[in-house]
Amino acid sequence: MTMPEPFYITTPIYYVNDVPHIGHAYTTIAADVLARWHRLIGEKVFFLTGLDEHGQKVQQAAAKAGIAPQAHCDQLAPQFQTLWQKLAISHDGFIRTTDAQHQTVVQRLLQKLYDAQLIYRAEYTGWYCTFDERFWTEKDVDNGLCPDCQRPVEQLGENNYFFRMGQFQQRLLDHLEANPSFIRPESRRNEVLGFLQKPLEDLSISRPKSRLSWGIELPFDADYVTYVWFDALVNYISGLEYLPPQPSVERLWPATVHLVGKDILTTHAVYWSTMLMALEIPLPHAIFAHGWWTVNGEKMSKSRGNVVDPYAVVDQFGADAFRYFLLREIPFGQDGDFSHESFIGRINSDLANGLGNLLSRTVTLIQRCCQGIVPSSHPSEVTELETELQAAAESLIQETMPHHVRRIEFNRTLEATWGLIQLGNQYIDKTAPWVLAKDPANAKRLQTVLFHAAETLRFLCLAAYPFMPNTAEEMARQLGLSHDFSQALLKNPIAWGDGGSGATVVKGKALFPRIETPAAQSPAKPHPEASTPASKDEDDLIGIQDFQNVELKVAKILAAERVPKSSKLLKLQVDLGTEQRQIVAGIGKKYSPEDIIGKTIVVVANLKPAKLMGVESQGMVLAAGDQEVQGLVTFEDVDIHPGTKVK
Ligand code: MSP
Repeated sequence: MTMPEPFYITTPIYYVNDVPHIGHAYTTIAADVLARWHRLIGEKVFFLTGLDEHGQKVQQAAAKAGIAPQAHCDQLAPQFQTLWQKLAISHDGFIRTTDAQHQTVVQRLLQKLYDAQLIYRAEYTGWYCTFDERFWTEKDVDNGLCPDCQRPVEQLGENNYFFRMGQFQQRLLDHLEANPSFIRPESRRNEVLGFLQKPLEDLSISRPKSRLSWGIELPFDADYVTYVWFDALVNYISGLEYLPPQPSVERLWPATVHLVGKDILTTHAVYWSTMLMALEIPLPHAIFAHGWWTVNGEKMSKSRGNVVDPYAVVDQFGADAFRYFLLREIPFGQDGDFSHESFIGRINSDLANGLGNLLSRTVTLIQRCCQGIVPSSHPSEVTELETELQAAAESLIQETMPHHVRRIEFNRTLEATWGLIQLGNQYIDKTAPWVLAKDPANAKRLQTVLFHAAETLRFLCLAAYPFMPNTAEEMARQLGLSHDFSQALLKNPIAWGDGGSGATVVKGKALFPRIETPAAQSPAKPHPEASTPASKDEDDLIGIQDFQNVELKVAKILAAERVPKSSKLLKLQVDLGTEQRQIVAGIGKKYSPEDIIGKTIVVVANLKPAKLMGVESQGMVLAAGDQEVQGLVTFEDVDIHPGTKVK
């Protein structure tokens, strides 16, 4: 019997020259989603992340802080570890390049290359960029500036040790040719092929201690430390020697995929690949380079003061919303822009109105109509609507998701998942369980509908889990499912109707409360003189988002009575589709209670409750008129179900 191949995934190891930012969070979240999915489908997973603690950048940061480099690393490491906890990162190993075991492996590999005469010593003169810690040739340097970071370079001549990287150029080209999916996406592969069109130079893998002392000493020359990239790349192998429960280089290597940012693709695709070739170690199966985030259209930088702090985002909006946004907003591989507006837009529309609403209305209806117990389906009541919903849920979990996750297309996976959420919400709108509930003759149909809604959510819970683990757990709790997500729940295909029925649902808090933006709380008031749209200032106009923040819904007036001692206020009981609410409306001069019972009206459903003459009002009705109400907004000639959204 052959063992299934394990899934070994890595992130870059991050420099500890500063606190973590959105870029670090992005790759780590992406790796976490893949790790969680592969565990869910029953694969053996090893997920490695960690810190790159040597080199000039870290030495300089420590000097600036006035402490020893090791103390500086020890101070910063917990900042990363705590963030990963907050972001629900499920890594199996956390490597630090100052770990003694890692240093031993680096030295062993250097010695091996030295003994094989693949490392030699030579005098080299070139233009050195301190920031990038690398030499450039005369033709690379642009007006005395580093072509990569645009900082001034200095001419430096020194003796160094070189790895015969150039010797492996053709082999690397052949490898790229034979393995089209080695570098992904395709556009990045082409960049690497382009880079390899020029002669590949040998790589300086040492730094004299006189210039940089913070690094791993060369095993064959105590006057030098190892170049930080040689040291760092080795982590992908050294970590396997001492971090998994059993040392498992043989079992886990080659890595399934190294996730990296586009800026560090060359070091991975060229330096690391040729190092492995020289060491006679197989190459990883794939290297995937993702794009970069800008912030409000600008490059993120400390000097601009626009660095997105993942701690603050998570504290304000929660880990799952952040995880969702980063992977939904742009295709992995392309650049994207982070803005408060687009983030809040996604929270309100996709998470609150989409997923959160589907869960809360389903749970509420099951509580109200089925004593809180998920009912069973009745085959005689299954129509095309149910068949369509079941087929969509099954194909999401069994086909669409595996297909897109395998190709590292997170946004497509999420689009497909949200397609099912939309279908689920439309299903409830169309089947209108609150109407079915009025007539006991519909009991079987009602049970069938609520069973299908709950079953859709059971499938969605699994689809959401890799991306939003906390949300999936809360969904399972509210649906009364006893899912243990640490188990391989999707190892065998899940079948429709295989769980869920008979579970007791538990109403919980909203999965994603809507975020009220300042604009929504105080909508721009038109100037009195700006009575025609043509003369409005841009400043007086609201964006579509402001309008979307107001949740308008169809409601049916079930009962109405006057508020004592008020000529103007009526107390209404309205049916909102999934719940009944009390609303106090200032329409008493225009209408008497008996005029309006049974009317289908429009209400603002997400208004904070308020008391009017001591009576609680949980919403607002829409009516025409200014000081005096002239008429309620009603639906006269169409039959629209309570709870339907008004847009
Ligand atoms: N230490 C090296 C990696 C060594 S791996 C053997 C390093 N560290 S880093 O901390 O500077 O960067 C880590 C990652 O953050 C890179 O993959 C980089 O692409 C990513 N990002 C930095 N800024 C980013 C954005 N603005 N957006 C997305 N990712 C970005 O490089």
